[in-house]
Amino acid sequence: MSNGVIQSVLTEKRVFPPFPGLVENANLSGMQAYEALCEQARRDPDAFWGQQARELLVWSKPFTQVLDASQAPTYRWFPDGELNLSVNCLDKHLGTPTADKTAIVFEADDGQVTRVSYRELHARVCVFANGLASLGCKKGDRVIIYLPMSIEAIVAMQACVRLGVTHSVVFGGFSSKSLNERIVDVGASLVITADGQCRGGRKLPLKPAVDDALAMGGCDAVRKVVVYQRTGGEVAWNEGRDVWLHDLLAGQSDQCEPVPVEAEHPSFILYTSGSTGKPKGVQHASAGFLLWALMTTRWTFDIKPDDVFWCTADVGWITGHSYIVYGPLAAGATQVVFEGVPTYPNAGRFWEMIQRHHVSVFYTAPTAIRSLIKAAESTPDVHPRHYTLDSLRIIGSVGEPINPEAWMWYYTQVGRERCAVVDTWWQTETGGHMLTPLPGVTPMKPGSCAMPLPGIEAAVVDEHGKELEAGHGGLLVIKRPWPGMIRNVWGDPERFRKSYFPEELGGVYLAGDSAQKDADGYFWIMGRVDDVLNVSGHRLGTMEVESALVAHPLVAEAAVVGRPDDTTGEAVVAFVVLKRDVPEGAEAVELGKQLRDWIAKEIGPIAKPRDIRFGENLPKTRSGKIMRRLLRTVAKGESVTQDVSTLENPAILDQLSKSV
Ligand code: PRX
Repeated sequence: MSNGVIQSVLTEKRVFPPFPGLVENANLSGMQAYEALCEQARRDPDAFWGQQARELLVWSKPFTQVLDASQAPTYRWFPDGELNLSVNCLDKHLGTPTADKTAIVFEADDGQVTRVSYRELHARVCVFANGLASLGCKKGDRVIIYLPMSIEAIVAMQACVRLGVTHSVVFGGFSSKSLNERIVDVGASLVITADGQCRGGRKLPLKPAVDDALAMGGCDAVRKVVVYQRTGGEVAWNEGRDVWLHDLLAGQSDQCEPVPVEAEHPSFILYTSGSTGKPKGVQHASAGFLLWALMTTRWTFDIKPDDVFWCTADVGWITGHSYIVYGPLAAGATQVVFEGVPTYPNAGRFWEMIQRHHVSVFYTAPTAIRSLIKAAESTPDVHPRHYTLDSLRIIGSVGEPINPEAWMWYYTQVGRERCAVVDTWWQTETGGHMLTPLPGVTPMKPGSCAMPLPGIEAAVVDEHGKELEAGHGGLLVIKRPWPGMIRNVWGDPERFRKSYFPEELGGVYLAGDSAQKDADGYFWIMGRVDDVLNVSGHRLGTMEVESALVAHPLVAEAAVVGRPDDTTGEAVVAFVVLKRDVPEGAEAVELGKQLRDWIAKEIGPIAKPRDIRFGENLPKTRSGKIMRRLLRTVAKGESVTQDVSTLENPAILDQLSKSV
């Protein structure tokens, strides 16, 4: 994937100017206005951010200071201000025409549609918050949310922040082991889950993973498990610990006094993979996070009162946090929330839903686009051309580089050459978009995420922090703090500093991506520089998969690398040395399956290796270092042309070339 992008920066010459109709009415309109805002933010950052925070957020106690950098890189934004996030997403709309506007159009897996207005959503959040409070939840507690895509998931997150409770959402695809690690790490006092989830016409259990996670130990702080009944399937019940959500909420008042929190109070912790075996708990603040989610929702998606916004992400990822639960609600938008999968009942589901709900701003991932391109090629009936997509005006992409071919298909077949394509580069740690074209501003280049948003100072530097000229690849860094930035790795400030503000770069934020700028100032992302893979837009640490593999009783050693893949961006390839002879034939196939299932159990199905290769050993230097560079070549099926003279055991490469 990254190779494709590097190629494209050298060859991609196409430029598509912004559409006059979009420019005219845009929230941020025209290159001049954009540049003026960038200049204002550069000249006086405090004045810029202070004004945005005063105008866009509702404060219960106004702030007097914008940025406290005295403990950098732990930056504190609006430190003496207080507010409540749920007030900023819901209560603030109550006295306005937005109160009776639809906040959420929920479409279930089976197609059933439920609409909730802002007034109703506010009431539901209050009822839920009262339920949580009745279980003793209070400001400062941490609650784990392990729910399917549902109105309840959004309500649960909003109810937490209403009480000042810090939520940590775990994606429903993670295993009980991953869930256990997160429960232990945040010290959760409560878990909110569902009996099961509906996906692709099937009912899948969810609660057993919570039961298993809690049985694994270290979870003594968990007092209650709240269970939302979604599928009606059988569940094991732990009397005294488990509570049905409907029982908890019965009779609760629909009024709930919001708890004001300090601007820096941790609103949520979201785990993401890094370059070690243990995922990082990315800790976000309250005011700064919401401000950035709202500002970027307004700029990038150009949200207007009559827009229908649809972000297809799951609330278990940062995209769902910023662009389902917080940004769009704070902006008073109407949004579609989808329970199911893009391929059920057929691969036309997205296009059909855009048509049915008159979606005007659509936001999805390149991996989804690439798989729908393939589907449309093999089953012409589900090609977007068969659907009325006239309502669309902006279409977005997130999570991984979008290759120019996929970009062109998205632009022509979905956007019908009249929609802005916003290729948004950002991360769990950045809280919101950082680099992206803007619908009313930026000429678009397929495959480039264009330029930084106002207030964001991005640069490409070498390993000593020296800024590189256009056309030179290097490390992507952000030179100034911004309100939406990560505040800490939960419980591990040392890791926070080392991972994101390494000394040798002189105090700038290190994104972990390589990039290059072209002569027009456009950024082209080339991929990760650390041992992090991007599989279908999901971050996965190679060390994480390796530690899971060596935890298997049969495995002596393992090395994991990524291989470019047409659909998923990258695919996981695992090289495994067993504590016994190298298996062959049917036995190798069987063991490969066992190990894949093991990974699904240890981490989650998204981490399953696509390919497992067995060998007597791994290619190592004489000092014992695994040569991953060679493994990447072998994983691609290419022949090794690199110098292998430093290798202890060159013959091993042949053995590892054979896939099982
Ligand atoms: O490598 C970049 C890639 O995804 C990483 C962040 O992953 P995560 O924290 O899971 O957040 C995903 C959703 C924001 C980045 O370090 N990435 C994200 N967006 C893009 C991208 N790579 C290229 N182009 C993008 N638009």
